[in-house]
Amino acid sequence: MRTVETIEEAVAAAAELRKNGATLALVPTMGNLHQGHLTLVREARKLADHTAVSIFVNPLQFNNREDLRTYPRTPEADLALLEAEGADLVFLPRPEIMYPQGLESHTTVFVPGLSDMLEGALRPGHFRGVTTVVCKLFNIFRPDCAMFGLKDFQQVAVLKKMVRDMCLGVRIVEVPIVRDEGGLALSSRNGLLSEEEKIRARKISQRMFAVRDAILAGRRDYDALAAEAAADLNQVEGFATDSVDIVNADTLEKAAPDTRRVAVLMAVKVGPTRLIDSVAFDL
Ligand code: PAF
Repeated sequence: MRTVETIEEAVAAAAELRKNGATLALVPTMGNLHQGHLTLVREARKLADHTAVSIFVNPLQFNNREDLRTYPRTPEADLALLEAEGADLVFLPRPEIMYPQGLESHTTVFVPGLSDMLEGALRPGHFRGVTTVVCKLFNIFRPDCAMFGLKDFQQVAVLKKMVRDMCLGVRIVEVPIVRDEGGLALSSRNGLLSEEEKIRARKISQRMFAVRDAILAGRRDYDALAAEAAADLNQVEGFATDSVDIVNADTLEKAAPDTRRVAVLMAVKVGPTRLIDSVAFDL
């Protein structure tokens, strides 16, 4: 496994991997790797001849300085895990490498509509930061496909639109959420939870699946259903629910009674830690 830190090295190493028509899969990450990320790497290895991974805590997608400062960073452990998974190339740039003139003057890529709704409305600038860094990574690696976890449901939708609109020619591969034995969606942010909070945080997915089951059983009063779930998580569990959205899984607009593919998206604060989860299903 080769590790590179500059854009020039990454461009050359990726080109080397793509030599003679070999295919390349990219797994963009912000590090602090867990089984969810390793599943992305395993899927990448099945789909392409070679696998590259980027580890970069992208400052452009954080709208909260404290969140950026406390985001868990574990590069040595990450490299050991990636080596064991058989990744071929790892790109570990510093912020000055990705944004040499700072964040303010860097060109950005913005997907209108999808970037402003839901999580985008709660975290202004977040998706602009994601699409900018992912576009830059695609231009550096020129991968055939790139792997993204469905926990970040809206992120996947935004990135698919970016690829379509900008003719980037990269296949976005959606990988199902990996959960712990209690159903908690794996996330780097789980490392910020105490053991007790981790156990209580399992209520988030339990509540989310209860909403899904109620819809599958015939409920269509989506606003009431979402409000009930938020109230339950806040009052019974003592969490601070940022959002429970029941949406059309394709457009991310509010689900209507005749919507055929639905997604339930949740963002919930457990103590200071903000967790997200999602489930999509057909009716
Ligand atoms: O999902 C993430 O970890 C990040 O948003 C990504 C796609 C690596 C871009 O920084």
